[in-house]
Amino acid sequence: MTTQAPSAASDRPLDMIIFGGAGDLSARKLLPALYMAHLHGNLPADTRIIAIGRRDWTREQYLSFMEEHSRPFVDSKALDALAWDRFLALFDYVRIDVGAQGDYSRLCAAARRSAQRVFYLATSPELFTTICDNLTACGLVDEHARVVLEKPLGHDLESARAINASVGQHFPEQQIYRIDHYLGKETVQNLMVLRFGNAIFGPLWQAPYIKSVQITVAETVGVGSRAGFYDQTGAMRDMVQNHLLQLLCIVAMEPPVSLDPDAVRDEKLKVLRSLRPMTMAEIARDTVRGQYTAGAVAGEPVKGYLEEDNVPADSHAETFVALRAQINNWRWANVPFFLRTGKRLPKRRSEIVIDFADLPFSIIPSGPRKYGNRLVIQLQPEESIQLQMLAKEPGSGLHMLPVNLNLDLQQAFTGRRAEAYERLLIDVIRGRLTHFMRRDELEAAWAWVEPILNGWKELGDRPRSYTAGTYGPAASSALMARENMAWAEEA
Ligand code: BG6
Repeated sequence: MTTQAPSAASDRPLDMIIFGGAGDLSARKLLPALYMAHLHGNLPADTRIIAIGRRDWTREQYLSFMEEHSRPFVDSKALDALAWDRFLALFDYVRIDVGAQGDYSRLCAAARRSAQRVFYLATSPELFTTICDNLTACGLVDEHARVVLEKPLGHDLESARAINASVGQHFPEQQIYRIDHYLGKETVQNLMVLRFGNAIFGPLWQAPYIKSVQITVAETVGVGSRAGFYDQTGAMRDMVQNHLLQLLCIVAMEPPVSLDPDAVRDEKLKVLRSLRPMTMAEIARDTVRGQYTAGAVAGEPVKGYLEEDNVPADSHAETFVALRAQINNWRWANVPFFLRTGKRLPKRRSEIVIDFADLPFSIIPSGPRKYGNRLVIQLQPEESIQLQMLAKEPGSGLHMLPVNLNLDLQQAFTGRRAEAYERLLIDVIRGRLTHFMRRDELEAAWAWVEPILNGWKELGDRPRSYTAGTYGPAASSALMARENMAWAEEA
């Protein structure tokens, strides 16, 4: 699939129109990100932000909502009273019941004819079709308009296709920005530089020099107030289908011919299409689902998933997934990719661990150990890259111990790091599609994930319990131990 060159930055005034403007995502992420973009002069001079909501609010009531629900999420060091007031001055509020076509006339009245319109759909995906139909019906979609789609983009392949098809009737692919906020993270973008800006790893970045790859996205938070959504979704749909597979793509892709959006996305698509579909036996053997029970995280007692508000007492939703994936291509033949994510784990920690192959033959005696050279790319909370080497322990004899070459990116670059949403919003405004998922990528990710979800259903696979504050069920360690490997914290 190709996407024609996007219409880049526009010299038109910007109307940013946010559906779900009074929702949780807007309050916590989008509005603070827009404030930061405004503070740093990254919004076009003549920007208006039109928040759309169902509530019968005046503009002033919406601004009070922002004061109460968004301002606390702005980094306090960046809060400047004057800048905040100027930011508020950009806003309008329009009440729309998204299903009521007549309501859109209010948006038509508020939007400027000559503006570059960005529609941010921060609503439930079931509403995307209706919103797009109504936007077209009232003449607001033109060749300059862009639409931003928030995840979850479907709950299976069919629903993802349906969303893509209906949005695609109104917007050509080059005007569609599918957000995966992990692609906006500084460190995730830096992964591309590590791989494609440094010659040193290139020749080693393949089988047989790499023995295995681990990708962990560990969270300490529980489900919080999102049980209504999360219980229908689970960690596989919420995290693996998008964030973890996107990380896997960046680790595993071939060098793109350029940084053009399609050049990059073509390579990611090839990785997704090379993921070996799992058989039922592999689903049973190579995947682990978990659900947290009461425990303690960072010394604080926390409830189990089933005791959280609005979680059904017999819920089977998984809050943890570990799995072993295999990429069927020349570069990665027989290199297992271990993916793991979960809530209520001991630490907030996202990292990629590349385990290099063992020496073909060692003349230096070493004790039993599970790894040799290992590259650890920490994405969050710290940004660092460590290369674990083996060195001689001082003293008599030749005893080898692992030591780290350590690159602390926070120390190396002390400048401000924009949050993922800020960076991605600026990309949308400037018409840069590279860090957004293309339609075929999204569908390829679902095509691999869906049979696993179906397999779990067929196997009647209830999630295994794990105590909050641990790294998931024991079966997750066993998944690697079986191959004489270990997750980074166990090695
Ligand atoms: C979201 C998921 O996409 O990512 C959440 O819906 C998860 O469940 C969040 O907590 C994690 O993002 P981050 O940026 O905090 O790692």
